[in-house]
Amino acid sequence: KAKQLIDRLEAQHSLSIEEYEYLIENQSDELAAYAAEKAVALRKQVYGTDVYIRGLIEIGNICRNDCYYCGIRRSNPACDRYRLTEAQILDCAREGYTLGFRTFVMQGGEDSAFSVDVVCHLVRQIKAEFPDCAVTLSLGEFPREAYQAMFDAGADRYLLRHETADKAHYEKLHPAQMSFDNRMRCLRDLKDIGYQTGCGFMVGSPYQTAQTLAEDLKFIEEFRPEMCGIGPFIPQKDTPFRDFPAGTCEQTVYLLSLLRLIQPNLLLPATTALGTIRPDGRERGLQAGANVVMPNLSPLGVRKKYALYDGKLCTGEEAAQCIGCLSRRVASVGCRIVTARGDIIR
Ligand code: 5AD
Ligand code: FES
Repeated sequence: KAKQLIDRLEAQHSLSIEEYEYLIENQSDELAAYAAEKAVALRKQVYGTDVYIRGLIEIGNICRNDCYYCGIRRSNPACDRYRLTEAQILDCAREGYTLGFRTFVMQGGEDSAFSVDVVCHLVRQIKAEFPDCAVTLSLGEFPREAYQAMFDAGADRYLLRHETADKAHYEKLHPAQMSFDNRMRCLRDLKDIGYQTGCGFMVGSPYQTAQTLAEDLKFIEEFRPEMCGIGPFIPQKDTPFRDFPAGTCEQTVYLLSLLRLIQPNLLLPATTALGTIRPDGRERGLQAGANVVMPNLSPLGVRKKYALYDGKLCTGEEAAQCIGCLSRRVASVGCRIVTARGDIIR
């Protein structure tokens, strides 16, 4: 029965919530291999063997929010805070450009110092210096007008993981000041404004169930994001969730395959978190249907400070080293890193 559901998902790109739940509850190595084979075939049809790279610039770890899972949450006094200057950020982009990056992702905590004006100025500078590059922002929740101003300044894409599509679950992962409804409002505004929009969630987050995951899949099916970031939850020692178990590589890659079947042209990263819980996690992600990797371009001196979770990969290597390492890893599974913006193919 489960294989028949996979066949139907492959053909129709849609299932009911109950059917998604069934697929999640009945995950096995055999079923995952079956889904992965179909997912990789679909990815090949759309993207061939190309894997897109995104240069991640972690612009600061100061955050007003207090998500229970996240190492840079406001109430973590052990977090050594930093904020990159505009000059530092531009230098990261310059180095990235030389290495072949044509997308820069500026990610950071929700920090009022990165105001709409500051962000817009940054975006304009990067777009002026590198007109052939895409700029992706990942700076959390803003009012619609702010997202509009950043888009008008030239930002192409925005990543804002929904974290979970289940409101009650969302409220177990975040303190009362944070609102599920506002998160969803942000995602709809971003899409409406015209951003290539990314949502996503952690796999194995505390209190997650087959039901909440099924809701995530249904949400993604209906929302039709351009990108979707998923990676295992990994406990961070200074957070309230320090004692919860990490998500698994097996479940993460299985969900990557299901997402590829739901939306064949989805831009799906094999995340650093996946590579962190398992040395060959990113390769396994690619073999399950992922087609994006996001190496770190942040200055070496701040890498360790952007500690969302424990044990993060590549906090000690130069961007050039990561590219070399990743090129080999990507080649080992029959794919190839390309120098391109890597927009979604319609
Ligand atoms: N483990 C895994 N992923 C995490 N994130 C935040 N904290 C953790 C953690 N402990 C993810 C969230 C966030 C993204 C930037 O990183 O999903 O949206
Ligand atoms: Fe950074 Fe392998 S990707 S060292």
